[in-house]
Amino acid sequence: MASTTDVPTASPRDDADERARQIEAQLTDDERFSLVISVLGHVPGSAFGGRDPRIPDDVTNMSAGYTPGVPRLGIPAIQSSDASMGVTNPGYRPDDEGATAFPALIAMGSTFNPELVRQIGEAIGREARSRGFNVQLAGGCNLARDPRNGRNFEYYSEDPYLSAVLAAAQVDGIQSQGVVSTLKHYTLNCNETNRHWLDAVIDPDAHRESDLLTFQIAIERSQPGAVMSGYNKINGEYAGGNHHLLNEVLKGAWRYQGYVMSDWGGTPSWDFALKGLDQESGVQADTMLWGSQPFTDALRDAYARGDLPKERLSDMVRRILRSLFAVGADRWGPAPDVDLAKHLDLALECARQGTVLLKNDGVLPLSTDASIRIAVIGGYAQQGVVSGTGSGAVAPVGGFADVIKIGGPGVAGTLRNLFLIPPSPLEQLKAAFPKAQFEFDPGYTPAEAALTAKRCDVVIAFAIRVEGEGFDSPDLSLPWGQDALVEAVAAANPNTIVVLETGNPASMPWRDEVKAIVQAWYPGQAGARAIADVLAGAVNPSGRLPITFPESLEQTPRPELPGMGSAWGTPVTIEYSEGAEIGYRWHAKTGATPMYPFGHGLSYTSFDYTDLEVAGDDTVTATFTVTNTGDRAGADVPQVYLTEAAGDRRRRLLGFQRIELEPGASQRLSLTADPRLLARFDGTAGAWRIAAGSYTVAVGRNAEELALESSVSLGDRQFGR
Ligand code: BGC
Repeated sequence: MASTTDVPTASPRDDADERARQIEAQLTDDERFSLVISVLGHVPGSAFGGRDPRIPDDVTNMSAGYTPGVPRLGIPAIQSSDASMGVTNPGYRPDDEGATAFPALIAMGSTFNPELVRQIGEAIGREARSRGFNVQLAGGCNLARDPRNGRNFEYYSEDPYLSAVLAAAQVDGIQSQGVVSTLKHYTLNCNETNRHWLDAVIDPDAHRESDLLTFQIAIERSQPGAVMSGYNKINGEYAGGNHHLLNEVLKGAWRYQGYVMSDWGGTPSWDFALKGLDQESGVQADTMLWGSQPFTDALRDAYARGDLPKERLSDMVRRILRSLFAVGADRWGPAPDVDLAKHLDLALECARQGTVLLKNDGVLPLSTDASIRIAVIGGYAQQGVVSGTGSGAVAPVGGFADVIKIGGPGVAGTLRNLFLIPPSPLEQLKAAFPKAQFEFDPGYTPAEAALTAKRCDVVIAFAIRVEGEGFDSPDLSLPWGQDALVEAVAAANPNTIVVLETGNPASMPWRDEVKAIVQAWYPGQAGARAIADVLAGAVNPSGRLPITFPESLEQTPRPELPGMGSAWGTPVTIEYSEGAEIGYRWHAKTGATPMYPFGHGLSYTSFDYTDLEVAGDDTVTATFTVTNTGDRAGADVPQVYLTEAAGDRRRRLLGFQRIELEPGASQRLSLTADPRLLARFDGTAGAWRIAAGSYTVAVGRNAEELALESSVSLGDRQFGR
């Protein structure tokens, strides 16, 4: 696999705090006020109007945010770009020839491979830096609480630990290139419906054990320079002005040293500065939503009145400066070279490892030696693979194969397109099966597609759904009548394989009628090749689901999504009453068997687990042997779960490791749990608490199929914050 370790290293500073203190002390108040806002770059014809005069004429690399530097003190201009799947360009830079479009974060989540995600972070950091961007708005780590959430493709998983480990790896990779990375969106930004007016309600202790634990672990592991607050309220207070979550938890209990930036249009009031917000982002978005830019005139007025203490203004600025200095963003040399071929290799490796084989009744892998007739049906498979939409969508190197406007209400509607990323799966399949004859049917009508299906030996049906920022799906069905299409072709041909390009689970009413199902997610610029490789067996699939696929919405905590269908601007309250029992944890609690569990993913070989030993003191360590019992080399992702804690049935992923094994080979693994995963958070004590008793630990191939189990006694213990 390609490595990007030969890139020039950044020049991080150990003295970032001291330097920030010294430099901040020399600033004028005007300079301080200028550093605590960012201005959205100009997109010709956009709803945000013309070029903002605060962006100097010689700045040509427009992006999501611009803040002037202070050259006399060596402070660079701050230029930020989206996002977690590559460097985006929603029209800012007409001459930009595209960035590497990596697979969606949920596909990166499916790799269970932090090292690969770290390398992708390096590549994204380098592509950002080569364009002059020193802040990357990456590290999307909200938990996938709801399979309707339009932005789940921008997040890693439903599990706090898996999400934290992967987000930290990405942040670490980006920051190694001298580029600050965010972690976002702090916190509970788990649905898109009326997100600016959404109050996300949760039990505070359960919040610490879930979404907040994700941020806490990711921050400890990667020291992200910035945390981006969400749009929503949490327990009645906006995320960007949430004194408890920002001042008491993030900066207090966790001693976070970086800065908090708002999301674009997430600052309705200047007093968010008192509640922990350090920088107002994309100020024109606040004008559009709330009628003003609170960190400009209103913040200066508050300062003049004495309502914003000087020390707080200095703290806001110091935090921003120390994050830039800590990664070496003030000491950049010349722009680095970007090896796009290497980055494409990484995108391919990620798409391969992130593809999840959900079902296989023996039809896969398809023989590459046989002269069979293959029908490829639907999903614009003659053009490209699908991308999610919104601020995170990356225009790939060389451009899209096609962009089909879908639309919808609001600004998000203008960004909602069917983006097709080349090359096409049809082309890649033809290359992978040189002896086969292909017929393509666009899936225009089920009846027409069935005629094609009948003529062929095998059907590969592509089923797609465009999901994205600003929209939740009302249900889990496929759009444009594709469920009827798949049903018709499966009825016409018993050898039907379905490839899903979606950002969330689909309902799959045709599941029992097809022979194989491949979850390809939004697989990015090398995605078509990865799909062909998996179908042809050139790659043995190893992706694992990072999100539960429920049988139906009835199995989820909220069969009805509050606010769905209400007009833009309607206040909505979602009670996340499942608390920390998200996804597989919820299924373990309710006993409802999902369609495909968290952690599920088939292989063309088989693995066995033996000889589990569990040791316990301050935490637990599970040691066991994994053996490849099949006749092909392959990768497995054994998973260690807590199933019972001092008499409380409670499922928690404690550890995982992706390992590659030759046929017949074994490896002994030892995985130690973060003790917070065994504990409950005690809000009264402000600490974690492990209750004395017996703790049962299981090794499984997914959250439901647990192969080995053993118990250990732990003593009573309170620790951490
Ligand atoms: C998104 C953020 C993004 C920002 C800047 C917002 O709409 O929620 O994730 O970083 O735009 O483009």
